[in-house]
Amino acid sequence: MLVLGVESSCDETAAAVVEDGTIVYSNVVASQDELHIEYGGVVPEIASRAHVERMLPVIKQAIEQANIKPEQLDGIAVGNRPGLIGALLVGITAAKSMAWSLDIPFVAVDHVLAHLYAPTLGGQSIDYPALGLVVSGGHTALLRLTSPVEATCICKTLDDAAGEAFDKAASILELGWPGGPLIEQASREGEPVFRLPRPKKNKSESFHYSFSGLKTALLYGVKGIPKRVDGVLKYEREASELSRKEQCDWAASFQVAAVDSVINGVKYAFENDEFKSIVIGGGVTANTCLREALQSFATEHKTPLHIPDFEYCVDNGAMIAGLGNALLSQKMTNTLSTTASPKGIAS
Ligand code: KG4
Ligand code: ZN
Repeated sequence: MLVLGVESSCDETAAAVVEDGTIVYSNVVASQDELHIEYGGVVPEIASRAHVERMLPVIKQAIEQANIKPEQLDGIAVGNRPGLIGALLVGITAAKSMAWSLDIPFVAVDHVLAHLYAPTLGGQSIDYPALGLVVSGGHTALLRLTSPVEATCICKTLDDAAGEAFDKAASILELGWPGGPLIEQASREGEPVFRLPRPKKNKSESFHYSFSGLKTALLYGVKGIPKRVDGVLKYEREASELSRKEQCDWAASFQVAAVDSVINGVKYAFENDEFKSIVIGGGVTANTCLREALQSFATEHKTPLHIPDFEYCVDNGAMIAGLGNALLSQKMTNTLSTTASPKGIAS
């Protein structure tokens, strides 16, 4: 079965053609980094407008690179939740219009669940129940998966997502945007010499992710506690006063603390349930320190760890097409009245 996957939940306009949920014929991703860089974060209205301009050329390119004709497609999948509502609407409108004009099935998928489908694109076969860990710019969550299409949310972040925290940490350290890869790069030159907090769990409480305390601790560690002078908050020093060594040591300290927090959630899930495998996805899974920590946890627990190829860690259309294929195979299609939603399985 040949499926076109369409993705536009945040700032990547993406489309891919995938056969039988595993063979990727094409995977086109148009990043909008250059449009948002001056704001240090994604501006929803700019993202939506860029999706409008780029969506059809990206879909056309995906079909051309796959060397197929649109009439050969068996179905169209789109990420319709969660995400920026204006951005999602562009993808869903394009996908529904194409499905209607080609008279083929249409299926709307959860973006977070699609991240957990990404390791399957390389042909990895997953044993269920699996623990799914999604760490991206918008989400940090643990899910219990009983199949690629059936999952329940175990826990999610109470505040920032891990990727968002990496982005804000890079902004505090004046490293640039998007921050994840820049923090990782700086960490390689530094040592985790500064002690930053990890969220604690009360014995009676269930686990939740939280990254805002870590982010604030980094801010105060780097710039000192702010004081109000003439009604304006003033820090003791500026991040620009840090030496490159100090900047890299702070980056390494932040990275280690963020990775520890992510791993603490995985430990909690394993203490409370049994899983035959661990599946991970989302932009932050591109981080080598996190990959290594997860790998050693998995080895220690004699549990297979399924990691996506680097290109399928960040937002892409192939993971949408793959999950769409799994749903279409079970005749789980959507009608053309389906719309977008800012909330999904883990939000
Ligand atoms: O999954 P994704 O492409 O988009 C969302 O669904 O949000 O994830 C993007 C996030 C950004 O916050 C980016 O800083 C982070 O993934 N990221 C990383 C790395 N590469 C991307 N974070 C840490 N280390 C990396 N190497
Ligand atoms: Zn994503």
